[in-house]
Amino acid sequence: MSLETRLARRTARPAVIGLGYVGLPLAIEFAKAGFTVYGIDVDAKKVEALKKGRSYVGDVSSRDVAEMVRAGRFIPTTDFKVLAKAHTINICVPTPLNKTKDPDVSYIVAAAEQVARYLKPGQLVILESTTYPGTTDELILPLLTAKGGRVGKDFYLAFSPERVDPGNAQFQTHNIPKVVGGVTPRCTEIACVLYRQTLETVVPVSSTRVAEMVKLLENTFRSVNIGLANETALLCERLGIDVWEVIDAAATKPFGFMPFYPGPGLGGHCIPIDPFYLSWKAKLSGFEARFIELAGQINGHMPEHVVRRVVEALNRNSRAVKGSRILVLGVAYKANIDDTRESPSLDILELLEELGAKVDYADPLVPRLDFAGRTRRAVPLTKASLSRYDCAVIATAHEGFDWRLVLASVKSVVDTRNALKGMKSPKIVRL
Ligand SMILES: NC(=O)c1ccc[n+]([C@@H]2O[C@H](COP(=O)([O-])OP(=O)(O)OC[C@H]3O[C@@H](n4cnc5c(N)ncnc54)[C@H](O)[C@@H]3O)[C@@H](O)[C@H]2O)c1
Repeated sequence: MSLETRLARRTARPAVIGLGYVGLPLAIEFAKAGFTVYGIDVDAKKVEALKKGRSYVGDVSSRDVAEMVRAGRFIPTTDFKVLAKAHTINICVPTPLNKTKDPDVSYIVAAAEQVARYLKPGQLVILESTTYPGTTDELILPLLTAKGGRVGKDFYLAFSPERVDPGNAQFQTHNIPKVVGGVTPRCTEIACVLYRQTLETVVPVSSTRVAEMVKLLENTFRSVNIGLANETALLCERLGIDVWEVIDAAATKPFGFMPFYPGPGLGGHCIPIDPFYLSWKAKLSGFEARFIELAGQINGHMPEHVVRRVVEALNRNSRAVKGSRILVLGVAYKANIDDTRESPSLDILELLEELGAKVDYADPLVPRLDFAGRTRRAVPLTKASLSRYDCAVIATAHEGFDWRLVLASVKSVVDTRNALKGMKSPKIVRL
């Protein structure tokens, strides 16, 4: 039976390798569409949680996981042997940077080696991890053809970038258009058939390299525009202009302008990291990706700038940083999610501690934080607890924060997110 027929009849068995922010929602989408899905992760704790019907990803409910596990349509495991029974395999493992800001593709290689080990005729393999153009062709294809199988005939290989936006209630896995580029036209075709079973819109492109580049362009676009917003904020500060008012007014233009906002710096697994995958690849081709490097520098210095604003806020009350009590509001990298990866709040916290401040944090979504060698607990937001601080730094504008209470209770506030928009007080220092 052809893979297309199996997909249409839901008798094909998809496998998803890497059950994190990207892989878990995808696996659950496949299961909800009626497939029996193998979910493979090397983290035994995650697999155990899923088996018990517990989700650790905000956009996936425990109810859905429990229901799919109970129905036998989602089978979480640490055992790669199940790959031998799968018809399609999506690889959703991390792609971090190493210490020198070069791509660390070791997770992709480890997952692809397992796929190669169990590869069987007719299988479709799709890489979803964000990576530099050429990864699918140059790294994965040789591993899969090592035993003599021909791509596009004996097995199929494609790249399809993941665009998930954690915490976005409007756009989730099922209604975010999916770009797909195969090694051969047949690979693209079959990969599109898989996604069309569960996703509303599929966008085929001519190659894996195009698909890989699409994702990096999208994230570089964000990084560069946020860099421009941050530089504009620094300039406006010098000129005594409110950057937030400028951006809001510019955003009334119905064409040719898209608002991006300044902030304490970039966070998450994507925007601070992905553009460097592209600049690394560019360097190998003797090309200098100047926008990427510049945006990286500007965005990377924002936590230091925030600390300078804290110094200014304390100065207004004749306080030194050393010995001051400072509260960082929000340690997740963006509002209304619990992900602290690469969060600029952590840089701010560390920089302030290096200067001798006593720093705590509050975050309704992150009750416990293991950072800089110790476990910290979130401070509850009450008038009494807030009044102990010389300065609060608004780093993440979670909806759960009561800004009026914050402003009324602390001695000064540095607002890096315009959370106190419209409020007036000599206590406020805006970015
Ligand atoms: N988080 C996002 O918002 C987002 C959005 C778009 C794209 N991406 C990209 O998707 C990829 C995955 O990101 P994520 O946020 O889901 O990461 P994650 O860390 O949340 O999840 C990755 C999972 O893979 C597992 N893993 C690591 N090595 C493995 C291996 N060899 N075999 C099986 N499992 C393994 C980890 O235990 C983890 O559970 C990255 O390339 C990222 O850049 C992430």
